[in-house]
Amino acid sequence: MDLDRLKTTAGVDVRGKRVLVRADLNVPVKDGKVTDATRLERMVPGLLDLARRGARVIVISHFGRPKGGPDQQFSLQPVAAKLAELMDKPVAFASDCIGEPAARVVAALRDGEVAVLENLRFHAGEERNDPAFARALADLGDIFVGDAFSTAHRAHASTEAITRLLPAYAGALLMEEIEALRSVLDKPARPVAAVIGGAKVSTKIDVLTNLAAQVDKLIIGGAMANTFFLAEGVEIGKSLAEPDHTKTALEIMRAAKARHCEVILPHDFVVAPKLAAGAPSHVVVTLETPSDLMILDVGPKTVAHYADVLGRCKTLLWNGPLGVFEVAPFGAGTFALAREAAALTKAGKLTTVAGGGDTVAALNAARVTEDFTYVSTAGGAFLEWLEGRTLPGIASLIDAPARDG
Ligand code: 3PG
Ligand code: MG
Repeated sequence: MDLDRLKTTAGVDVRGKRVLVRADLNVPVKDGKVTDATRLERMVPGLLDLARRGARVIVISHFGRPKGGPDQQFSLQPVAAKLAELMDKPVAFASDCIGEPAARVVAALRDGEVAVLENLRFHAGEERNDPAFARALADLGDIFVGDAFSTAHRAHASTEAITRLLPAYAGALLMEEIEALRSVLDKPARPVAAVIGGAKVSTKIDVLTNLAAQVDKLIIGGAMANTFFLAEGVEIGKSLAEPDHTKTALEIMRAAKARHCEVILPHDFVVAPKLAAGAPSHVVVTLETPSDLMILDVGPKTVAHYADVLGRCKTLLWNGPLGVFEVAPFGAGTFALAREAAALTKAGKLTTVAGGGDTVAALNAARVTEDFTYVSTAGGAFLEWLEGRTLPGIASLIDAPARDG
């Protein structure tokens, strides 16, 4: 993907134009209330900029994974209400994203006004990348803006097919996400460290392999480290691991070595008889895990070593926790290293970029999200980017005809 070819609406006269913005309004909602508005907060400046420039802003998005047509449980209406609150301006709502309800709401918009259309996934054509559904959406707008980095790994009608039907541009949030990721993987300040944690090697084989070719230090944590130890014949007790992937772990180590990337594994662990809040736990060194206990977090020596490595690096990419941070006290290792990374960032010594659902939850729990250089709002799309894959929602914007709207 030649990211330098992405076009934004800067310099495009959007006044009076119907601007169809593909955003990601897929936020957690409980009992009709948005419980985490981070994604919405991040998209607001870009939407307000379009509105201030006189565009008629029409926001389209999926929400959840409804199956087989409209389902009130997956209505975007409460999300539209939250967006209105955050934008501090009225947001109209259409009960369908195509057809008469959508056309009526769009026709009533004046310059600078904003509307949200109902969940795109109430129509099967969305996930099928159906050209006819894309056409029905395109008929509502004059210009398309792709602003959903977190949905860019999906080739759906609203992210892919539609870019062939309207002049298409990259939105402000999408550009922000891409620039943050490029600062880590495209000509970053070196040395670069990646902290990769989480439960399974199997879900991150491509991430680890791709990063081994790009970063200088690959710091492993979480249960996936156990699979690396298993591969080396180290006792891991009753710990979670993937015996079927010990070969994968060895291949990743070999690939890293060939690229002069140092793979760094824990030195000590917090172990307990079972995964339960407050379970009696203690610290053991790597070679001394008792056979009847399980590894649930990295130990203090590991945190100190990892912190020392970060202190000698200039750039950090973080995806995945180092332990079972959701269950106390097994979040201590993740939180301590997150605080170190935050402190180095605040001191201007380290550029820190993090992403992925669990990672963001862990950084929030450690209260350091604000101190990182950039925390992505994306989960699956962030991982696919780390795998070095082409994201259809971005590639389509690059390939879209350069036409001024
Ligand atoms: C996300 O929350 O990861 C994005 O909104 C994409 O949602 P999806 O995984 O249901 O496509
Ligand atoms: Mg997802």
